[in-house]
Amino acid sequence: MIYPIVAYGHPVLKRKAKDIEGNSEELQQLITDMFETMYNANGIGLAAPQIGKDIRLFITDGTPLEDESMKDFKKVFINPEIIEEEGDDWPYEEGCLSIPGVHEEIMRSEELTIRYFDEKWQEKTERFSGMKARIIQHEYDHIEGILFTDHLSAFKKRLLKSRLTNISKGAVSVSYRMIFPDKK
Ligand code: NI
Repeated sequence: MIYPIVAYGHPVLKRKAKDIEGNSEELQQLITDMFETMYNANGIGLAAPQIGKDIRLFITDGTPLEDESMKDFKKVFINPEIIEEEGDDWPYEEGCLSIPGVHEEIMRSEELTIRYFDEKWQEKTERFSGMKARIIQHEYDHIEGILFTDHLSAFKKRLLKSRLTNISKGAVSVSYRMIFPDKK
């Protein structure tokens, strides 16, 4: 089942998400549906709050980036905790399925260590760097109630304000189904 994606301005995107209690058929179905939803929107990451669920779950698949180093990055992160971030900050122009059409350069650290449960509810601690770390940091932010636009300077935020307001009202062209919080 393809979920509609919640747009900028929806309160669920600003909420710190809650831990998932344990594995279940319902959780497995949700993971399947999230992959379907993400592929339908040509995304490389999707967090549960983006489909209106305030639980600590996100998925990734770097395949659309067509980069050799992004192979084998189809992953499920349940109840993740970033333990450590290190390395130099580097810039990259990010986008977000909840903020269609907006792309801004964001600085993030090069490497991270994350502890999480995978889709089989196996606990893992892994290190990621570069683009993989970047995608994880962006999705992890989602379950903390943070959007990439929150990292922008006050000046950049002011410049973007009317576009973001338009997105929340549904005044945006997008190829996938969305829920717009301020649509009249
Ligand atoms: Ni996003």
